[in-house]
This record gives sequence, structure tokens and C-alpha cells, in this order.
Amino acid sequence: MVETVVSTTKSTKHKANMRVAKLVQLTSIKKETYGARVSTGIGELDRVLGGGIVPGMVTLVAGEPGIGKSTLLLQLANNVAVGPAAEQPQTHPTKGPSPVSGAPRSASPTRVIYVAGEESATQIAGRASRLGIANPDIQILEETDVDTIIETVNGDEWRVKRANQSPITNHPSLLIVDSIQTLTTGDLTGIAGAVGQVRECAGRLAAWAKRSGVPMFIVGHVTKEGTIAGPRVLEHMVDTVVWFEGERREQLRVVRAIKNRFGPTDEVGIFSMGESGLKEVDNPSNLFLGQAGRVSGSVVTVILEGTRPMMVEVQALVAPTKLAFPRRISSGVDQRRLELIIAVLGRRVGIPLWDYDIYVNVAGGIKIEEPGAGLAIALSIASAFKDKPLKEGSFAVGEVGLLGEIREVAQTERRIKEAKRLGFNSPITSKEASTVSEAVSRFLFKK
Ligand code: TYD
Ligand code: MG
Repeated sequence: MVETVVSTTKSTKHKANMRVAKLVQLTSIKKETYGARVSTGIGELDRVLGGGIVPGMVTLVAGEPGIGKSTLLLQLANNVAVGPAAEQPQTHPTKGPSPVSGAPRSASPTRVIYVAGEESATQIAGRASRLGIANPDIQILEETDVDTIIETVNGDEWRVKRANQSPITNHPSLLIVDSIQTLTTGDLTGIAGAVGQVRECAGRLAAWAKRSGVPMFIVGHVTKEGTIAGPRVLEHMVDTVVWFEGERREQLRVVRAIKNRFGPTDEVGIFSMGESGLKEVDNPSNLFLGQAGRVSGSVVTVILEGTRPMMVEVQALVAPTKLAFPRRISSGVDQRRLELIIAVLGRRVGIPLWDYDIYVNVAGGIKIEEPGAGLAIALSIASAFKDKPLKEGSFAVGEVGLLGEIREVAQTERRIKEAKRLGFNSPITSKEASTVSEAVSRFLFKK
């Protein structure tokens, strides 16, 4: 049961005052140009959003608590709010006269408003100082009533009417709402975080963003608790959904667009969480490689994240077991895919693994979802079982079929290029070997 707002306007209109809407020819509509994109100042985030922020764009930032959403958005706020050095009070066209004396800073055209529903202003100030952010153009709004927030940000009292011209307003250049699960509207009785509240508050915020043209980032926590509505219930209301992924214990954070009305959805942004916030990772391969590919059980492969090739290391450990059902434990690789590859190794390659425990891990905390890493997984298990490493500089790219054949994967050439760039010169693909069995017998290095 979901609580909703009942509209009080009469639905039984008289025929006389029925309105007729206007029809527009598709070809007569002016194409929207996204030339007005504003860079976030964070290259990896721009990449995910499709080039930057579009006016009125509503972005949902979803992820588990503690993953770094507030950190990223504070860094974003700092970039968008230009700050003291770049302030040009007289020349900016959108700037109106400041009606409140003593607060001229609030009128800055590039200010960013950060709605703090989750944490107190003091806590946010603490994070800001940890990140080295001291920007007077970031304003904190400690408020959880969505209507108050919209009224405050809309700033009716700031609106200045000019003769024969449209009123100019002092809207912020960006609004950040952290988080949607803490907001409520007085029109509903449910508690904050209930599906009805979350949906209604997000709807009102999104509608305001469209009216005002102010872009907006809304944080949504992924929760396991049933009483708090997750970000999934909002996906249809917003323009862009970016999902924050990663292991809290590891440094790596992957930001992925899963919906984007203003750009592609196949891009990812890669960050590492460090002492002073999130840092962009331009060259992800380096992060995942380390000393990969030299010892038995370690095989390097190239996966595609979005349009970007990325080298990762697959590690396997094979150990005799006394269990009736041997362990198959994987991290970063889908469990069922692992079992399939183990079955192929048993039946097609002749490596009996039914009395061995098998552990497979992808170094660096990244998750491999594409089939192109299958050959690397198979070779890493075979290499661990036989205790023979691959030749130095080898890497494997290919999908493993049920018949034990190696299938070619998309964009093999690009992957090989990336590997060569990092000094891996011996590819193992469907060209070098047509079956897993052949690859195992030819490329595992004899001690
Ligand atoms: P936070 O942005 O508060 O997460 P979310 O808003 O998604 O809940 O980030 C919380 C974690 O990030 C916290 O465990 C500490 C860590 N962190 C760093 O490692 N370095 C930093 O500079 C900051 C600000 C946080
Ligand atoms: Mg937070």
C-alpha cells in the first residue's frame, strides 16, 4: 500500500471550458542542442554524464551508504561554485541586484546549494575541511521539508521584476539533495523514506528543476531494509541515473550511468577513494595489474568497461578437499560462470577438479561481467592446478563455449592494443588456439 497525494481539483469539467491542447509537427520542433553543457570539473564524471551537466537535468546518484556519494557531490559542488577568485559581480548576465544587504555573496551567479538532510551542516563542514574545500559559494541548507526547500531555493523574494522583461531570478547553478530518503512533504503523513514520500518529494524536485532549469543531483541510498524505499522507485522520474559501485574496504569506485536521457549509458567513471576524497583514475589498467601474470594461477585479460579497454588480473587457487561438495568461491566473477568453466575444464580439457576446492578472485575489487574473460578464468584455474605459469607477457582474451572452444569476443583488436601498450605482447585468443585444451597444452609454461 503506497500513500499518494489526492488532487483536489474537480475532474468533472464542463464541456464548455474544456481546453484543447496544441499539436506540433515533429519536424517543426527545434532540435535541442546540448551545447550549454557545463563541465563538472571532474573528467570521469563528465564522461559518465555524456559531457557535463545540462540545464534542468536531474541526476540520481545511487549507491550503498558509505560508498562516497556525499564526498563526490561535495567535490562537484566545489568545482561548479566558482569561488572567490573567479567572481565577476558586474559582468555576469544572470546576476540580479542583491536585495539583502550584508549578504552579497549569496547573490553569486555560480553558487551551489547543498541540501543537508542526512548530516548536519557541521558534519559537512568537517568533510569539506578534510577535502580541503573552503568555498563561500557553497551554501548549506539544513532542511528536510521538500516544499520549504523548493520555496527557499526558488527564492521568490529574490526575483526582480524589470519593465517589459521577464523577471530575473537568482537561482543557484546547481542544487544537491543529500538524500531523498530524508525528505518529506506535509501533504503526506508517511515517515521519511516511505515509498510515497520518496516518490512525491522527488517528483516535486524534478518538476521544479524542469521549470527553473537548475540542474539537480539527488542522492538515493540503496538499503536492504524494507521500510526505506530505494532509488529504484525513482528511476523513471529522473533524467540520469548513476550508480556508485565498489567495495567499501577497497579503494576502487566505479560510477556507471544506467540511464541517461542526455548521453550514452555505456560509460563508466573510475575513481579511487583516498585520504583526501575521490581521485580520478585515468589509467585504470595500472590500478589492477601489480605483478600480474608471472606466477601460476595468475592470468591477465582485457575487459571492456563502456568503451574503455581495461587490463585486469584473474587469480585462481586450487587445493585438494575432503568435502563431499568442494568449494567454488569467486569474487569479481559470477559463481555460475565459474562453475560452467570448471565443468568445461573437467569434460573437455581433462582436468578433473571434483575433489579440489577452487577459489577465483579478480584483483583490485573490480567485477567482471562480460564473457570475454572466460578464457583467462579457465587458464588461471588450469595454471593453478598444474602449477605452471603462462609465459611472461601473455594475456588471454576469449569466450569459453560449452564444447571447450574459444570464441572470439567483440573488439579484440582494441583489447590487444591496450595490452601491448602496457607491455603484454603475447595474446592468447581464438586465433592462437581454437580450443581451451589446445591453449592449456601450448601456453602453460613448463618448469
Ligand atoms: P561518504 O561520501 O560519506 O559516503 P555516502 O555519502 O555514500 O554514504 O563517504 C564515506 C566514506 O568515505 C567514509 O567511510 C570515509 C571515506 N572517506 C575517505 O576515505 N576519504 C575522504 O577524504 C572522505 C571524505 C571520506
Ligand atoms: Mg552521505
